[in-house]
Amino acid sequence: MSAMTPQQFLAFQHFIENRSGVSLGENKQYLVQGRLSQVMARYDIADYAQLLCCLNAPRYHLLQQEVVEVMTTNETSWFRDNRPFELLKQVMLPQLTQQAVGPYRIWSAACSSGQEAYSISMTLESYLANAPDPMLAQTAIVGTDISAQVIEQARSGIYSDMVMQRGLSRRQQQAYFQPTEQGFQVSSDIKKRVSFTVHNLLTSFAPLGLFDVIFCRNVLMYFSPELKSAILNRIAQAMRPNGYLLLGSSESPLGDSDVFKQKNSEYGIYFQRG
Ligand SMILES: C[S@@+](CC[C@H](N)C(=O)[O-])C[C@H]1O[C@@H](n2cnc3c(N)ncnc32)[C@H](O)[C@@H]1O
Repeated sequence: MSAMTPQQFLAFQHFIENRSGVSLGENKQYLVQGRLSQVMARYDIADYAQLLCCLNAPRYHLLQQEVVEVMTTNETSWFRDNRPFELLKQVMLPQLTQQAVGPYRIWSAACSSGQEAYSISMTLESYLANAPDPMLAQTAIVGTDISAQVIEQARSGIYSDMVMQRGLSRRQQQAYFQPTEQGFQVSSDIKKRVSFTVHNLLTSFAPLGLFDVIFCRNVLMYFSPELKSAILNRIAQAMRPNGYLLLGSSESPLGDSDVFKQKNSEYGIYFQRG
């Protein structure tokens, strides 16, 4: 098959940005072609002209969803970057129990296959072991992602040996997982407070409700500055008063939104509505 023409790549960039917010850089053409090849073969699509026609036709909505999904980067791991989970344990959970009215709600936005949401639940479990609190024990953790495929994996709560090796100590593996024939299953104590929903950050957050803590890590970096700013402002609206925002280690809302104030603690940086 011949390569995408510059016009076809431009049309494809627009399709992906309109559907998911993800801005594909000019240098991503080979990556795009590589990721599309399997989907195109499965749908018997002969070339990029035919693909672009299908991406504009409503009856190909399943193909369109699959194309969006293959373009997302689902890289994640347990306790990724560690600091946000230390901040949660050392700063946010103690402050919440003193200052806010429960039950509390935590959002793992763009959660990929669920490791972030379950890491939050494990952090909460270990906090409660030292400081039991019936209200905090009722905390709900909501994981959302645009990809139905990763949400299905997250809901199963079953992970392969290889995935388990990325960020979990032996003690955590033993305390929070049960080995099964399919892989390692997140224990019911950790799973019971976590739910997962397919949700696109480009759409309204209202159906999700309000949150005390929002993790939105390693996704805004794929969006244009304008979109990032619009989403940060909507995140602020989805927060309860004094809610906390945690971003990826190289991300900041400052410069993109003036609604957040940076807070520095010995455990790292987080953001609150100003
Ligand atoms: C790199 S992963 C980050 C996962 C996790 N937050 C972490 O930091 O480990 C980015 C995730 O963002 C999701 N994503 C991309 N665009 C999205 C959108 N418009 N709405 C919701 N999720 C989106 C992708 O499907 C992917 O799972």
